[in-house]
Amino acid sequence: MSDATLTVRNLATGFKMGGRVMNVVREVNLEVRKGEVLGLIGESGSGKTVTGMSILRLLPDNAVTEADTLDFLGTDLLSLSAERFREMRGTRLAMVFQDPVGAFNPSKKISWHLKQVFERAGTKSPEHAARAKNWRQASIKLLADVGIPHGANVMRQYPHQLSGGMLQRTLIALVLVFEPDLIVADEPTTNLDNIVERQILRLFRDLQKRLDCGFLYVTHDMTIAAMLCDRIAVMYAGSIVEIGPTKQIFSDPKHPYTQGLLASALALDTKTERLQEIPGELPNPGNLPPGCLFEPRCKFAKAECRAKPPAMTDVGGGRNVRCVLYGHG
Ligand SMILES: Nc1ncnc2c1ncn2[C@@H]1O[C@H](COP(=O)(O)OP(=O)(O)OP(=O)(O)O)[C@@H](O)[C@H]1O
Ligand code: SF4
Ligand SMILES: [Mg+2]
Repeated sequence: MSDATLTVRNLATGFKMGGRVMNVVREVNLEVRKGEVLGLIGESGSGKTVTGMSILRLLPDNAVTEADTLDFLGTDLLSLSAERFREMRGTRLAMVFQDPVGAFNPSKKISWHLKQVFERAGTKSPEHAARAKNWRQASIKLLADVGIPHGANVMRQYPHQLSGGMLQRTLIALVLVFEPDLIVADEPTTNLDNIVERQILRLFRDLQKRLDCGFLYVTHDMTIAAMLCDRIAVMYAGSIVEIGPTKQIFSDPKHPYTQGLLASALALDTKTERLQEIPGELPNPGNLPPGCLFEPRCKFAKAECRAKPPAMTDVGGGRNVRCVLYGHG
């Protein structure tokens, strides 16, 4: 039996603009397994957020999403009504975004938010109902679990009175009330300073292990991906170009784009002068190259790469690569 919490097959998303649909994400295939962190990485504009938002059905009305499969623990997300999807989102399927402020009602204290969530969860099971009755004590325990030892004080405060790190911890506590099966996080530590960022990353890792849930973690930061993720999917111009175990991807990147990303990260780390390891820019979604999307920037490009988009090739060790160097297109 598959241990996949989330299975995505052939996901494509575009935006209606001026009478046509501009495709920005295509042929996305991934699986988030129970108990693992799958990192979705790639440079700015590569389609990471659109992929996450497509899965969570959070894109604006001009978005068009299609997929062959969008399965969450046996539930076909594509066929769920808007209402049932909303019910699923925020309970078994949780999300944490870059800016926690937007998740809170600024005119309500933290205690109000916790009470609401515990009450909503209380309708799910007798165990949740018991916790909902004692929501204050349950909240204090939960806040302690996410690294807020003085929860009773925090509960008396308004969102704007908390630091970014405290607010993100509180949001994580709210998410955890439901003990979700899948957490999707999109750059949730970007606005935090380095020390708090490291603390929140450790917290994510600990909680994810404890809940044994699936975790899709979107980031452009290779150091974070290395720290947190069991497997990594590398995205370029809306497609996944390489996917596999983190260790192998870092020790032996196969796709020329992954090689460039790692070289750039290393150059930044060692403060060498090689600032632009990948020359050129992402292609315009309205004017994509006919073959491999990375071809205009690839130092290994050959005629074959321009003929048609390369297919994903299984290169063994749980790794797949979209490049003619590893198989035929
Ligand atoms: N609402 C929208 N309407 C039209 N195009 C959009 C919309 N949202 C995103 N896009 C386009 O989709 C592409 C992918 O954007 P996305 O936000 O997913 O990138 P990203 O990989 O998350 O980047 P970053 O690391 O900067 O967050 C970009 O070309 C972007 O301009
Ligand atoms: S298919 Fe060709 S152009 Fe694309 S990454 Fe591989 S070698 Fe480079
Ligand atoms: Mg993004």
